[in-house]
Amino acid sequence: MSAILAIDAGTTGVTALVVTEKGEIAARGYEEFDQHFPQAGWVEHVPEGIWQATLEACRTALAGYGNDDLVSIGITNQRETVVLWDRETLGSPRRAIVWQDRRTTSICSSMASHDARVRELTGLRLDPYFTATKLAWIRDNEPHTWAHVEAGRYAIGTVDSYLIARMTRGLHHITDVSNASRTLLFDIGTNDWSDELCSLFEVPRDALADIGPNWGDGVVTDPRSFLNLSLPITGVAGDQQAALFGQAAFEIGDSKCTYGTGSFVLTNTGSQPQRSESGLLTSPGWMSPDGETTYVLEGSIFVTGAAVQWLRDGLQIVGSAAETEALARTVDSSAGVVFVPALTGLGAPHWDPDARGTIIGITRGTKRAHIVRATLEAITFEVRDVMATMPTPIVSLNVDGGASANDLLCQLQADQLGVDVSRPRYVETTGLGAAFLAGLGSGVWDSFDQIRETWALDRTFSPDASRREAADEAYASWTEAVGRSKGWA
Ligand code: G3P
Repeated sequence: MSAILAIDAGTTGVTALVVTEKGEIAARGYEEFDQHFPQAGWVEHVPEGIWQATLEACRTALAGYGNDDLVSIGITNQRETVVLWDRETLGSPRRAIVWQDRRTTSICSSMASHDARVRELTGLRLDPYFTATKLAWIRDNEPHTWAHVEAGRYAIGTVDSYLIARMTRGLHHITDVSNASRTLLFDIGTNDWSDELCSLFEVPRDALADIGPNWGDGVVTDPRSFLNLSLPITGVAGDQQAALFGQAAFEIGDSKCTYGTGSFVLTNTGSQPQRSESGLLTSPGWMSPDGETTYVLEGSIFVTGAAVQWLRDGLQIVGSAAETEALARTVDSSAGVVFVPALTGLGAPHWDPDARGTIIGITRGTKRAHIVRATLEAITFEVRDVMATMPTPIVSLNVDGGASANDLLCQLQADQLGVDVSRPRYVETTGLGAAFLAGLGSGVWDSFDQIRETWALDRTFSPDASRREAADEAYASWTEAVGRSKGWA
């Protein structure tokens, strides 16, 4: 039976999946890597750490399955994060600056007069979230490094590009439209790098990757660098677009919410880009080898799973993310505690890089279970904030990502949205999407219909009508608390 190795290089760790032609996950590997917070609001990753985690996750997955059936590789990744590497040695001169990093807030403010034009060309906005602002920071603050970028020695890339460079021993510097479109250097009207934007951010176009479709023939891995494997990489996409693909959301209006480090709600808007006046982003979802492009509207929420990680690693009030459900169920409500997890500012629909986390409503009776429950509730409020800005009202929502395994979270989400929330058989939809793309590229599947047939439902959570009033009251308190968290930094 044919199988695909899918690599999901996320913000917190790398997942590797072996996906069979039946769309079943036959083996898994997962490896976390270190997060670096050198200053308040800064987030960095060591590129070599991402690479080593990728190798280890793949080794684990392949140990559980073997290599014989593998026909191709799919890659999906945290988007916007910028990596520099030496084209000769493949070593990185500095850590990657991560999408969550807020250090470029003042650069964005100083460029505010360009915001309208940037929005028009990119479908995004001037916010520290996006890659080009991070490159501007390196240019201004690390001139020695930047000189090597300008001289052509250092390549600039997103995480997909970096992994492909490592897997092909530096032979290829390529990316796809979904990743390129999140850099602020890509024109969604032409599906190519924009000279105007490269000149605005003073980024040499030659330092950027070649842009291709999301599936197709693909470049081949070098066995000396990548686990003795010589396989074509036939599918690549940024993780949120991959998750939409993994949900088989091929029709206009199909939507999903992925609960990861952040949470990202995407809706398929078809072959024309749609614009939002209320804080949603417009991006390509995927492009076929013949250039046919499907667009999405996206609500990007920066901190959801990362808030649970902070409960675990920062506050140390839970031992694992999995523990949160049982603990939150020991109380009926958060007893008035509201947690706004604006730990790296607020994304959609508020877009306030200066917002900071707030926990409000604490009394002497507050227990850790209330704070944990407030954290799960916050995730559902954030998604409600975004869903309220979608151009057409949703009738149901497909969820995925690690936290969607949490039944309480899914139920609270249904209660907040007042619509059914459906969870698929596999919640690793991001990796599954990369496998679907790679399978299309290598002929494992010939059509979207064949892919859709492999998708299966696990469970649907329906809103509990008896909780409607309480849900709305809690949401009103949330809205009030969000107002207080804004502009704090
Ligand atoms: O835009 C950031 C996004 O791609 C990160 O996704 O799953 O690592 O939270 P995740």
